[in-house]
Amino acid sequence: MKKDLLAITDLSTEEIHHLFHLAKELKRKLQNGKLAPLLRGQTLAMVFQKPSTRTRVSFETGMFQLGGHALYCSPSEIGLGQRESVSDVARVLSRYNDGIMARLFGHDLIVALAKFASVPVINGLTDLLHPCQVLGDVFTILEYRECLDDVKVAWIGDGNNVAHSWINMAARLSMKLHLACPKGYDPDQKILEEARQAGLSEIILHRDPIEAARDADVLYTDVWASMGQEKESEKRKKVFKGYQINQKMIDAAKPDVKIMHCLPAHRGEEITDEAIESPHSIVFDQAENRLHIQKAILVMLMKK
Ligand code: CP
Ligand code: NVA
Repeated sequence: MKKDLLAITDLSTEEIHHLFHLAKELKRKLQNGKLAPLLRGQTLAMVFQKPSTRTRVSFETGMFQLGGHALYCSPSEIGLGQRESVSDVARVLSRYNDGIMARLFGHDLIVALAKFASVPVINGLTDLLHPCQVLGDVFTILEYRECLDDVKVAWIGDGNNVAHSWINMAARLSMKLHLACPKGYDPDQKILEEARQAGLSEIILHRDPIEAARDADVLYTDVWASMGQEKESEKRKKVFKGYQINQKMIDAAKPDVKIMHCLPAHRGEEITDEAIESPHSIVFDQAENRLHIQKAILVMLMKK
């Protein structure tokens, strides 16, 4: 039976640890020039409704490094649900490829794509979730820490797709997740409820970002207006003022706090230039690790 990765909650705790183990091994082998072509001759169709740098390039490079090939299908090409129905696209792409990675607007679209595809479908971001991002993020934190148990992660900003995947992660791995979002921009109540019911993690919502940042091991933020929300940009700039990773926030956190951002960053908005360039920042390690975790995901789902 094929397995999809639409949400972190599609994975068990054991599978998440397996992915981290595999990503570490693949990273080491790449560095030693000993990476085996584990997906030789296989292809991945990559369907995009939104722009991308990290997700596209890490999946495409990752497939190449594993001996396979990835095909980029641009937003104007496939016309998911417009030029052609999702169910037809899913079945056609499944006849050519061994896997599909998609970055889409509606989460319902990727659910439908996975339903009709006969090959694994990977969520490369939807309006609701960004699972590959947070898998790479936690893999990055675990390069500095043995486990997440005592790690306080402070999410500063919008209760968006990346925040939701963090909350999903807290339903699988024990951590202290403190989110500070402005009123009206809290994460999805159902996602929060499910994670709290899992009973593994401390998940706390704040309004005051400094309270969330206090003694944090990780300060994490994302853009105030996500892809597709560009028209709300000006309004959001006013609402999110104060939800910025800056020196004041760094001072409130632990002395060795790590600063993370999924990127792309809007410097001067959700994060200052000073903060993202500071010795606390691990944003480029985090970006690099997308490559290693994507390969682990591809191997886990596609290796025959
Ligand atoms: N973080 C991330 O997913 O980056 P891209 O939007 O560039 O893929
Ligand atoms: N929340 C952002 C993440 C980008 C990687 C967006 O959806 O645009």
